[in-house]
Amino acid sequence: MDVLLLNGPSLNLLGTREPNYYGVQTLDDIISNLAKITNDAGLTLQHHQDNSEARLIEHIHNATNNGAQYIIINPAAFTHTSIALRDAMLAVNIKFTEVHLSNVYKREDFRKRSYFSDIAQGTISGFGAQGYEFALQAAIQHIQQLKG
Ligand code: DQA
Repeated sequence: MDVLLLNGPSLNLLGTREPNYYGVQTLDDIISNLAKITNDAGLTLQHHQDNSEARLIEHIHNATNNGAQYIIINPAAFTHTSIALRDAMLAVNIKFTEVHLSNVYKREDFRKRSYFSDIAQGTISGFGAQGYEFALQAAIQHIQQLKG
């Protein structure tokens, strides 16, 4: 696996969850599009959505052994709360992009604080599902440069 994509709590409900913020595409739709883009680039994508902080941490810990060269993560509400997930990202030291479907800076004040932005390669917020595609392009470019 080259690219690891992680989605946090309640992102399994995309499609019906607050569509004004998160759009009408389901997570399955988003993932199959991203898998195709990755495949067309000759790389592989592994995806996990989890509502549990502990299991997300396990996926991050396993990333190195599973060969991940780049991580794309939408930590969802854990963005604003989880030192544990931040520490897991620091521990594996794999380059990553933080993605949010909604523009978190247009919303409640508590969403403006992220435990990930200062350690990410970059953050994409407010472009809906397209934000994952932008992150994936960056990941693919990074990996292709590594492979020479
Ligand atoms: C989110 C934004 C978070 O504030 C929120 O808790 C989510 C989704 C987004 O994708 O816009 O669950 O990460």
